[in-house]
Amino acid sequence: MDQAARLRRLALSPQKPQPLEKTKIKSRIITVTSGKGGVGKTNLVVNLSLALAQFGKRVAILDADLGLANLDVMLGVVPRYTLYDVVRGRKNLAEIAIKGPAGVILLPGGSGLTELADLSEEKRRALINDLQLLEDMADIILIDTGAGLSRTVLSFVAAADEMLMITTPEPTAICDAYGVIKVTARQQLQQKINLIVNQVKNAREGKETAERLMRACEKFLQMELQFLGEICSDQRVAMAVKQQQPFITLYPHSAAAENVRRIAGTLLAVPVEKKRGLPGFLYRLVQLWEKG
Ligand SMILES: Nc1ncnc2c1ncn2[C@@H]1O[C@H](COP(=O)(O)OP(=O)(O)O)[C@@H](O)[C@H]1O
Ligand SMILES: [Mg+2]
Repeated sequence: MDQAARLRRLALSPQKPQPLEKTKIKSRIITVTSGKGGVGKTNLVVNLSLALAQFGKRVAILDADLGLANLDVMLGVVPRYTLYDVVRGRKNLAEIAIKGPAGVILLPGGSGLTELADLSEEKRRALINDLQLLEDMADIILIDTGAGLSRTVLSFVAAADEMLMITTPEPTAICDAYGVIKVTARQQLQQKINLIVNQVKNAREGKETAERLMRACEKFLQMELQFLGEICSDQRVAMAVKQQQPFITLYPHSAAAENVRRIAGTLLAVPVEKKRGLPGFLYRLVQLWEKG
């Protein structure tokens, strides 16, 4: 079976049956990605997690940008361990998790992620059990990935319940976003794509950018996107990054903070059809990696 067919089968597959008592709580798992790099994924993940926490949600974030993992830098925390240590059997999930501001849980991914595919069956089962614990602690799990069409990013897209695409109004960014959505649609990796336009001059530019991309996706890919909103270009974003603090905390009254809170509200209002659960997510991810 080729890679595309495998991704598709897994994306569509129901999860393995689970014991009844474990099916109660399920986290909503959202992969955040973009076509082009540097469009604001990590900033969004950090600030959206805090905005969701303000709405009373328990949020965990997974740093899955294997090349440029920097969620920790933006949160001003220094992880001592990463998933790599879990994979090596040196730590369990609770020991690598960092409690960030507003109770947001950070899971440093680092290079350990792809090594999950090499775990022995026994260790993997232990990890999946561990993940069940995390599921009890988080209503929403946001996954910060790299940009573009790498196999790793696409497997996160396929394994998660939903995908959140972020772009700027720049034609190159829109074009690259379309490229990722095209592969997602063609390979049927994900049905649910949310869209955010970052670094806009004003709301109108955000809406127009979103409409352009949405029209193209509908017309050529028969793919309907859900527009969650725009985030203004705001110099306080870069200022907060320099201070290693989320802008929503440092500048709660900034336009960008306002925008992100609004996006959080919209995201929570979007109906969720399938929540396949964290163990199912990991199961699919490992399947995708080990047979590649
Ligand atoms: N809304 C915004 N307004 C101004 N600058 C922004 C905004 N969003 C992102 N940036 C700038 O872009 C940089 C890259 O953002 P980042 O979240 O690291 O992108 P990615 O994770 O997609 O590579 C940030 O450090 C910041 O300086
Ligand atoms: Mg990033």
